Amino acid sequence: MAAKRKTAAKRSAEFLRASRTAKFILAKTKLRPAIGLVLGSGLGAFADELSSATRIPYTKIPDFPRSTVAGHAGQLVIGKLDDSKIPVAVMQGRVHLYEGYSSREVAFPMRVLGRMGIRAVIVTNAAGAINRDYSQGALVILRDHINLQGTNPLIGPNDENCGPRFPDMSQAYHKPFRESAFIEAKRLGIEVHEGVYAAMTGPSFETPAEIRCLKTIGADLVGMSTVPEVIVARQMGIRVCGISCATNMAAGVLDQPLTHEEVIETTARVQRQFVALLRAVIPHLAADVGTARQ
Ligand code: HPA
Repeated sequence: MAAKRKTAAKRSAEFLRASRTAKFILAKTKLRPAIGLVLGSGLGAFADELSSATRIPYTKIPDFPRSTVAGHAGQLVIGKLDDSKIPVAVMQGRVHLYEGYSSREVAFPMRVLGRMGIRAVIVTNAAGAINRDYSQGALVILRDHINLQGTNPLIGPNDENCGPRFPDMSQAYHKPFRESAFIEAKRLGIEVHEGVYAAMTGPSFETPAEIRCLKTIGADLVGMSTVPEVIVARQMGIRVCGISCATNMAAGVLDQPLTHEEVIETTARVQRQFVALLRAVIPHLAADVGTARQ
């Protein structure tokens, strides 16, 4: 045989599991979304407003990790954005390292989204504000991140079917998405900033000394999620838009203790603005990547 054929890499168990789970999910809906969302602590309301929605609890999805935290419903919702009819796949809730999952397990649902044909995602989270210019409740478009979780979802053998061994992270958060999100937030009259997110494992909140350290190394926000998902998304070539809700000033910024209740209270207060921003940003993502096989 003269023609050179590219040898297909042997598909790993993880790739096969993600493909099987994607197939399972797509069999439950006629929609074929190209856009995914991951909704963090207390930020799930967006998923309640979709039309023609199929809702699948994580407990019913093969190989999906289950979220155990208050404020994380733990279901996948596939539906259409009412006004534009753009189909989206929404993770209402996520799992975290502090629940005992590995970084690879935490990011598995992103692999599944990739295998479903998702080409752009909006990842959202609640975070502590290190940057003193942010008010409690401000929305922050992520410009970049610092992985301080001491691990990476790609550690271990690499399957080239999932993506390259050494994925580039120099444009982790897609610049045109950042610009669109910023412009739309301004248009909606929402307090918005751009910032760098530092990911810790949690579950304890940081000490004031840790926050001073994070500030020194260039972080504006601190949280316990998002980074593993973004790494896997980038490995798969999925474009990412990251939006944090600054739910509290980080430890030591104010002279008061931090609580999860405060985080949930703030997200409840800004939920309407947050949903409005997501609705406004999604058409930009759709214009960028197309709305897929709908
Ligand atoms: N630190 C870490 N994670 C968080 C915080 C915080 O202050 N607020 C919300 N998630």
